[in-house]
Amino acid sequence: MIQVEPRLGGPVSGDEIPPVDYLSWYVPRLQENRPYDLSQSGFAHSWDFNLESEALLGFWDSGRNPAKWVAERHNIDLDRVCIAHGTCQSLSLAILAALPENGPRAVGVEMPSFAVVSQCARLLGCEVIPFHRGPNSGPWTLNRKEVLDILPKVGAIVLTPVMNPTGEMISEDDQDWLIDVTEKAGVNIVSDEVYLDAARGTEFYRPMYLRSDNAISVNSLTKTYGLGALRFGWIIGDPKFIRNAKHAFQNLQGMASSPSVAIAGAVFPRLDESLEAIWEARKNNLPKLLEVLKTHGIEWTPPPFGIFGAFSIGTDAVQALAKYGQPLGLLATPGGMFHAELSDYLRVAWGADSESFEAAMPVLSQFLTSIQEGIA
Ligand SMILES: Cc1ncc(COP(=O)(O)O)c(C=O)c1O
Repeated sequence: MIQVEPRLGGPVSGDEIPPVDYLSWYVPRLQENRPYDLSQSGFAHSWDFNLESEALLGFWDSGRNPAKWVAERHNIDLDRVCIAHGTCQSLSLAILAALPENGPRAVGVEMPSFAVVSQCARLLGCEVIPFHRGPNSGPWTLNRKEVLDILPKVGAIVLTPVMNPTGEMISEDDQDWLIDVTEKAGVNIVSDEVYLDAARGTEFYRPMYLRSDNAISVNSLTKTYGLGALRFGWIIGDPKFIRNAKHAFQNLQGMASSPSVAIAGAVFPRLDESLEAIWEARKNNLPKLLEVLKTHGIEWTPPPFGIFGAFSIGTDAVQALAKYGQPLGLLATPGGMFHAELSDYLRVAWGADSESFEAAMPVLSQFLTSIQEGIA
């Protein structure tokens, strides 16, 4: 079995800086342009906007404030918002802002997770200590004992309420419990909510910043709004955290990219179009996936919202994709990239347009047949 899960541990610099194995694996395969691509964790929404080079390069002369767009969309005060370049950068800024200056320079990170979430704190000079939600503590429930064990050792914890790769939202009970114990321990929470907006308007939409003053939420236009290339994200939280995050941003980035912010400004009033299209894609595509899985005897309940989920294919997904997926022109995401115990999971996204998704279904079916015949 190939080991590709996030590399946790102590502070790193120089030669010790670990790769993000998932990206090292994924980017070259994405560049192969496989015709049947079910790997996208971001929704494929086609935006059109017409901006002249003057508007693109001269945003910071326009007098507009991008934090205001976020504040208005969330109905919160401006001093609760910091703009950044995507969730990845926002995570580092939020961790720096959340770590108490006199507390332990250690961060508890929920696993399974996308490696940037779990590894970035090591580059900030922190020890990273895991706690788990599933796979070994029951069906995507929080391992509360592990959390209680690590709380005295950490200054902040980081989690992804809508988990990558499963798409499973943390239960309300676990969420409230986590807030309660972290508040009591004086530990702050950084919450990666990059997939959460797909739940807007449902009971599952429970951003952390709304529930506790010790929680910072980070998000971006990358996934639910289909604008990953833009690198536009934001941080929401108590003004004391936001002041710290802005200082961290100034030190690490200086100014935000004018073209990114200008394009974000063009789409911001229309963001709900993308969320509506996600529900439509789910309605059209998900039943086709469930049908394929059923014919292969794979019992699976998809997450209640979003554009991807992960299920067991009964064998190591990295190897299966190399042996059977590549010759078929199929790309999907191996679960082992997020946790070793998910190595036989495959993450499949249904955010593509109906035609290409439909065309990929017989190929996925052939892939599963090859695996099942290979195992038998
Ligand atoms: C949990 C999680 N957070 C963040 C990101 C990246 O977000 P951004 O493009 O906004 O930096 C990803 C991308 O896969 C992700 O899965």
